Amino acid sequence: MHDRKRLLFYCLALAPLLGIPAFADWLPLANDGVHDPENPALAVMQEPSEALSQLPRDEAGDVGNKVRWVRALEGGYIDPRTNIFPETKIEVLDLDILMKNTGSANYVLFPHKPHTEWLDCSNCHEEIFKTKAGATRMSMLEILSGEFCGRCHGAVAFPLLVCNRCHSVPPEEAAAMATGGSGR
Ligand code: HEC
Ligand code: HEC
Ligand code: HEC
Repeated sequence: MHDRKRLLFYCLALAPLLGIPAFADWLPLANDGVHDPENPALAVMQEPSEALSQLPRDEAGDVGNKVRWVRALEGGYIDPRTNIFPETKIEVLDLDILMKNTGSANYVLFPHKPHTEWLDCSNCHEEIFKTKAGATRMSMLEILSGEFCGRCHGAVAFPLLVCNRCHSVPPEEAAAMATGGSGR
């Protein structure tokens, strides 16, 4: 059993070096279970494999649509329109919040920057999250049920099964960090 696990580990680790795609590629629209294969308009739509394969791959593998969207934005691969009306002002906030009610899991680091590059403050404040670190009570079960972070993660943003992308700070490393969210 142990040996088999180790073999699997090496296969997964070596696959990118050998140029073997470790994970399934994007399904064609006609059999993704979402689009109607009979719909004649399908022919004018771009296939995900064509569009998404140009963008930075999510190293977590076969999750979501397999794109690391934050890197796609940072790397200039995409340049999404931020506002419809010219008078709308976009405010990018570089503020990390450390969340410590995580039981035996790593602490959660919530970064404002990659959120406010896509989203206006009003998407989250005050309806989903209080504008005060530590003021919002939430459990993982509620998040998995589509509340709080789960309003977007698992729906339009990276999926909830990539635990460590949120639970990214081991408690022993937290002391050295300058973040909001003390007093949790
Ligand atoms: C999108 C971000 C995100 C992802 C992904 C995520 N979590 Fe969480 N998790 C949170 C937040 C936020 C909290 C609440 C932290 C707080 O209030 O201080 C939390 C709390 C928890 C807690 C403690 C509270 C409770 O209800 O038990 C555990 C345990 C936990 N998560 C485990 C997991 C596991 C296991 C996974 C992967 C299957 C996971 N989390 C994925 C954001 C996330
Ligand atoms: C994707 C959701 C999201 C967006 C968008 C967002 N925030 Fe937050 N914000 C949070 C979360 C989560 C917290 C922590 C709440 C808690 O711990 O209860 C927070 C906390 C804060 C805090 C409290 C910091 C502290 O140390 O007490 C401020 C101030 C804040 N946000 C301002 C903003 C502003 C200004 C914007 C827009 C530029 C913004 N936020 C956009 C989710 C968001
Ligand atoms: C209103 C929608 C929304 C909410 C609510 C939300 N997020 Fe996000 N989050 C996004 C989007 C959109 C992105 C960028 C696209 C992606 O990474 O899939 C993102 C990206 C992130 C990233 C950066 C991922 C990377 O690749 O570096 C982290 C970490 C994260 N979210 C954690 C959280 C946590 C923790 C919460 C809850 C406290 C939360 N988010 C709530 C929409 C949201």
